[in-house]
Amino acid sequence: MKTIIYYYTLTGQCEKNAVEMAVQLDCDCERIIEKKKRLSRGFLRFLNGGSAIQKEIAKIEPVSNDPDKFDRIIVVAPFWAASPVPAIRGFTKLYQEQLKGKKLGLALSNLGTDPKEAFRKYEELFPEHLVTMSFTKAKGEWTDPKMSEKIKNYIVDLDKKN
Ligand SMILES: Cc1cc2nc3c(=O)[nH]c(=O)nc-3n(C[C@H](O)[C@H](O)[C@H](O)COP(=O)(O)O)c2cc1C
Repeated sequence: MKTIIYYYTLTGQCEKNAVEMAVQLDCDCERIIEKKKRLSRGFLRFLNGGSAIQKEIAKIEPVSNDPDKFDRIIVVAPFWAASPVPAIRGFTKLYQEQLKGKKLGLALSNLGTDPKEAFRKYEELFPEHLVTMSFTKAKGEWTDPKMSEKIKNYIVDLDKKN
């Protein structure tokens, strides 16, 4: 089965998670790039939450790995204000047809609020059921010692459910 990971990151955490996952799965990994520049540092970065609440659909650069060429697609992303980030709304809109009939996974990263609401909202954006996992971290703890193990378990889960 050919697998690819597409990830969006504002502050770097999802890139770490996606790369680690790609190493374990031995698969391709590509960043989703939003055309709009966003504040990514300091407290002001939290102002981006407004565009997530308002369900903004971001314009993104087309991905260079054609989703059509893969059987399994895993999206790695944060959530903002318990909502999908605009770049993933842009991605699922642009590639809705290509995502149909695929085996889909979604790994969310956040800082500590319950990801349930965000998963429910993300689920609405994809045309197929998502096998999910979350990398929730306590504030300040940027290295999760259980991350590798979590990813391993997620891959087992993906294989079982997909
Ligand atoms: C605008 C904004 C809103 C956020 N809202 C939440 C939230 O509702 N709950 C939460 O646990 N973390 C929230 N976070 C934290 C991010 O989800 C978390 O830091 C994530 O790991 C960032 O991923 P990245 O570094 O790949 O961008 C928010 C971060 C930003 C910038």
